[in-house]
Amino acid sequence: MANDLEAKVWDCLKTVTFPGMSRDIVSFGFVDRVAVEGSNVEVGLSITTHNQQLGEDVREQVERALVEIEGVAGASVGLEVRTPPAAAQQAVSRDAELIPEVKSVVAVASGKGGVGKSTVAANLAVSLARLGYRVGLLDADIYGPSLPMMFGITERPVVDGNRIQPFERHGVVLMSLGFILETDTPVIWRGPMVMRAIEQMLADVDWGPLDYMIVDLPPGTGDAQLTISQKVPLSGAVIVTTPQDIALIDARKGLAMFRKVNVPVVGIIENMSSFVCPHCGEQTDVFKRGGGERTAEILKCAFLGRIPLDPAIVEGGDAGQPVVVAHPDGPHAESFAGLARAVVEEAAKHQPPKLSIF
Ligand SMILES: Nc1ncnc2c1ncn2[C@@H]1O[C@H](COP(=O)(O)OP(=O)(O)O)[C@@H](O)[C@H]1O
Ligand SMILES: [Mg+2]
Repeated sequence: MANDLEAKVWDCLKTVTFPGMSRDIVSFGFVDRVAVEGSNVEVGLSITTHNQQLGEDVREQVERALVEIEGVAGASVGLEVRTPPAAAQQAVSRDAELIPEVKSVVAVASGKGGVGKSTVAANLAVSLARLGYRVGLLDADIYGPSLPMMFGITERPVVDGNRIQPFERHGVVLMSLGFILETDTPVIWRGPMVMRAIEQMLADVDWGPLDYMIVDLPPGTGDAQLTISQKVPLSGAVIVTTPQDIALIDARKGLAMFRKVNVPVVGIIENMSSFVCPHCGEQTDVFKRGGGERTAEILKCAFLGRIPLDPAIVEGGDAGQPVVVAHPDGPHAESFAGLARAVVEEAAKHQPPKLSIF
C-alpha cells in the first residue's frame, strides 16, 4: 500500500518541470528523498541554483501537486538550495581563455573503452549541427583516437600561419589527436605531454566561434582523464555505458570523477542495449536491459536514452559516415537528436549568469 503511494508520488514528481525548462525535477536529480507514512508524504528537494526564488517556486508547485494525489492527506516538502560550486566557475573562466569563442564544452566519457563513446560523440556532434548550432568535435582520446576514421579523413591538417586548420565534415568542425600521432605507434603518454597536446588542440586550432564543442575523452578515470577534465573548460559530461553490471560499475566511477572536479553530469546513455534483428525486427537483449536507467536513478542523474546494437552503426563508423548521416530519417537519428536536445538543455544551466536560466 505504502509502496503504491510512493510510486504515485514519484510519478507525480515527474510531472513537475523546472521553471522555464521542459525537463522534470526528477530527471534533473533535484529530488533527494521521498518518504510515505500512512497517508502523509514527505519530500526533500535539493536544488542547485543562483536564484532562491526559483527553488521556492518549485517547492510550491510540488506541494500543490502532491495533495492532488488520491490517498494523500498531508504533504510536507523540504527545500535545500545550493549555489553552483565556485571552484568549477573559476576553473572554467581560467581555462576558457584558451578557447574564448566556444560557448559550451561537453565531454563524452566512459568508464572503459569499446562501449561506443566515439560513436556517441560523433553522432551527437552531427545531431547538434542539424539542430542549427555551430559545433566542434575534439578527439582527445590519447589511447585510441578514432574520429578521423569515423569521419573518413585520411589527410593531414593544414597549418595556416601558426594556426592549425580543423576539418569540416557533415556540418561539424573537427580535430583529432589522431592527426598528430603516427598511426599504429604505441603511445606512452606522460602527464605533461598529455597536457601540452590538449592545450595545443584547444588553443592552436582555428576553431572559430562555436556554440558547442564535444570532446571525446579517453576512457577510464585515471590521471590523464582527470587532468584533461580539469584543463578543458567543461560545462557538462555525458557518460556512455553498456548495460552489463561491470560496465555500469565503471560508469559510476566516471560519474564520481566528474563530480570531484565539479563538472555537472548531463546524464547516462546506454549503448548496445538490445539487438534488433534486421530480418524479423525482433529485439533481443544481448547484455542486460535497464541497467543504465537504474544506475542513473541510483546516482541521481538523468537517463538520456538507449541506442540498440545495430550493424548499421558499425558500417557507418567504418565508412566515414556516422549513422545519423547515413540514415538521417532512421530510428538512431531520432535517438541522437533527443540526446542532442538534452545536452542543449543541460548546458544552458551552466552558461555565464546573464545567459543562465537560473
Ligand atoms: N550501438 C552500436 N551498434 C553496433 N555497433 C556499435 C554501436 N556502438 C558502437 N559500435 C561499434 O563498436 C565499436 C566500438 O565503438 P567506439 O565508438 O569506437 O567505442 P569507444 O570510443 O568507447 O572505444 C566500433 O566498431 C563501433 O562501430
Ligand atoms: Mg573511442
